[in-house]
Amino acid sequence: MALFYTDKPVFGFDIGRSSIKVMQIDQTGKKAKVTGYGAATFDNSAIDNQGVVVDPEVLIKVAHELLSQKLVGDITTRRVAVSLPNANSFSRVLTLPKMDDKDLKAAVDSEVDQSIPLATNELYYDYSVARILDDGNREVQVVATPRTIVDSYIGVFDALGLEIALVESNISAMTRVVIHSEAHDVTTLIVDIGSTACDISIYDGSAIRATGTVDCSSERLTQNIADTLGISVQQAHSIKARYGLEVSKKQDQIVKASEKELNKLISEIRKVMRYFTDRTSGSSPIGQIIILGGGANLPGLSSYITNKIRVPTRLCAPWNNLSFGKLQPPHELETTLYTTASGLALVTQKELAE
Ligand SMILES: Nc1ncnc2c1ncn2[C@@H]1O[C@H](COP(=O)(O)OP(=O)(O)OP(=O)(O)O)[C@@H](O)[C@H]1O
Ligand SMILES: [Mg+2]
Repeated sequence: MALFYTDKPVFGFDIGRSSIKVMQIDQTGKKAKVTGYGAATFDNSAIDNQGVVVDPEVLIKVAHELLSQKLVGDITTRRVAVSLPNANSFSRVLTLPKMDDKDLKAAVDSEVDQSIPLATNELYYDYSVARILDDGNREVQVVATPRTIVDSYIGVFDALGLEIALVESNISAMTRVVIHSEAHDVTTLIVDIGSTACDISIYDGSAIRATGTVDCSSERLTQNIADTLGISVQQAHSIKARYGLEVSKKQDQIVKASEKELNKLISEIRKVMRYFTDRTSGSSPIGQIIILGGGANLPGLSSYITNKIRVPTRLCAPWNNLSFGKLQPPHELETTLYTTASGLALVTQKELAE
């Protein structure tokens, strides 16, 4: 029993549109060590298009099975840091003069009221001072999520007997992963490539400056490969994971089959970059693209994006600073699947106290 812990540990719980990923990391030793992790998929009709859980039983069952039977290693705490799919979350950066905490809260309340198309009492929102400008003004990062979405998950966690220490949108969570595990002295465009959609954010070292979501789907990509090659979806998935866009006998056909989905991603990246360039002054230009999420494992995807966007692109590498101890690490074809869960697991007690 951990009698001498003053801080209660948390584990990360990343909820996607069709899968959950969990991970616990022990940060008490010299090198942070993963003590347990796992993933499970569920039918994506459990969550509606607004991001609200409409069939909690589905999620509860899958999560319960994962936690009780399917983990690699162990999860030893009931406290969770949760990230939710990004549907309908808002993020803004406000520039405000220096003021005391009470006035700051009032100023944020009033901005949220004016700039987000939902009533303040329909939102959960959070803010923090991201940067102090030369003229003394503060840049304040605000992230807001509809209450209906967050509340729909609270029932799920209650049923699982888990205590929520933190809930945030996928975009905040994936940005934290990059802050924890990557060099971010340059402005970074982050892409989470999921089963049904991709989330994009631009982080300039102090705040999330621009975000976007596009329905570029790794599942549809598999389907398109299956249709083009006249093979089953299972076979197409193996081919996608094994060869992807890289050299193989069927490379031309695979690349062609993938382009329809990938083009959507490329245009959205360009759009978010354009927004960032037009609206943001005082940030350095985008120096790198980091991709994460299950779909980022697609072999050849980083060079594909590098060539199209002309910005160096690579896979998020959270495992550099983490050890798996005696545990079997995730399969090499699945390394980016757990990036968000690891970022949540690394949340500090200080962040939780804020
Ligand atoms: N080696 C691989 N190569 C290519 N794609 C892969 C590989 N491994 C997993 N995937 C794809 O990753 C996707 C799952 O990614 P992830 O778990 O990040 O999605 P999600 O979080 O459930 O969905 P979303 O982010 O859309 O809510 C699946 O579509 C799967 O086919
Ligand atoms: Mg995801």
